[in-house]
Amino acid sequence: MNCRYYIPMLNLIGRGSVKEVGKEARNLHGNRAFIVASEGAVGEAQAKEISDILAKEGVISHPFCEAVPNPTVSVVEKGLASYQESESDIIVAVGGGSAIDTAKGIGLLATNGGNIRDYSGANKSRHAMPPFIAISTTAGTGSEVTQFAVISDDANHSKFTIVDWHTTPNVSVNDPEMMLSMPPSLTAGTGMDALTHAVEAYASKNATAVTDAKAYKAVELIAKSLLKAVKDGADIDARENMCYASFLAGAAFNNAGLGLTHALSHPLGGMYNLPHGLCNALLLPHVIKFNMDRASGRYSDLAVAVGAGKAWHSERENCESFTRFIINLSREIEIPGGLSEVGVKSKDLETLAAEAMEEAIGATNPRPYSAQQALDVYKAAF
Ligand SMILES: [Fe+2]
Repeated sequence: MNCRYYIPMLNLIGRGSVKEVGKEARNLHGNRAFIVASEGAVGEAQAKEISDILAKEGVISHPFCEAVPNPTVSVVEKGLASYQESESDIIVAVGGGSAIDTAKGIGLLATNGGNIRDYSGANKSRHAMPPFIAISTTAGTGSEVTQFAVISDDANHSKFTIVDWHTTPNVSVNDPEMMLSMPPSLTAGTGMDALTHAVEAYASKNATAVTDAKAYKAVELIAKSLLKAVKDGADIDARENMCYASFLAGAAFNNAGLGLTHALSHPLGGMYNLPHGLCNALLLPHVIKFNMDRASGRYSDLAVAVGAGKAWHSERENCESFTRFIINLSREIEIPGGLSEVGVKSKDLETLAAEAMEEAIGATNPRPYSAQQALDVYKAAF
């Protein structure tokens, strides 16, 4: 298979790497930075920290601390107005996927105009975004590395996915020191999102040797470090391993694509405003069971990577070991046991399955699926 490999042109990973952001903003000819961060005290503190770093290089900041979880069309539109008013020449996002995806939406509209809904789908924009630095403060979303943005439409409580290489940041930053205060539940959810990115990229129909290398190593690192990072948020080695894992998993799925877990997860997030990583964690074991006959060799490899499987076991045995490993890890990091426990209603499952069929992100799943099969996976995860 031929390979097209997209990734930010510079990726800063490791302790203290965020301190280089001012220098890199200057390298991108930035004089006035529009900082996109989450609403509330945490987002405001993160924006202040970045503003101080930028100021040391003489870069003036204009903070926009209004990104919300499952970022919405209306926040993107408000952010665009603020960006234009600020006369900024570079965008710096700091936060989790919500802040970074909001910044991608603002950046696309800033140079391309129109309505953010126009960019749903693949490569709809004509012009590059303004220079863009994405600083991740969670280890999971991968948005700092990718050409993906997921936006919620406030008008109808649905989500749409933008896949556009113009949204790939120029510079990504994964600094574990920015993640030390992340609470256990957020560490758990975002970590399971990273695991899902790696597993879906590895089993994807579009996987290549390049994406396999990234995804396999990400799964290994997550098995070694996610539980430690959840149990002890100050464990800087575990946090740093999760930075690398998140980056690797993001690079893998940015190029190999995802699968049925994400196709099922997005409608859940849209309808119930549930955390994305939590939805993935609840669905992933059931998607692996559904895919097993078409991708047993792939899941078997990953079972060996996490130490749950053995090279001399059958692929099927290893698949089952891998599924058990994911369920046990979820339990240890206190992910709830099923969709019903997080408020999902059985009466909504058919609607959710119909919406999942509209998710182009499922096209690279190793096994094709019907609406009935999507519904069956929701029921199994219920
Ligand atoms: Fe994800």
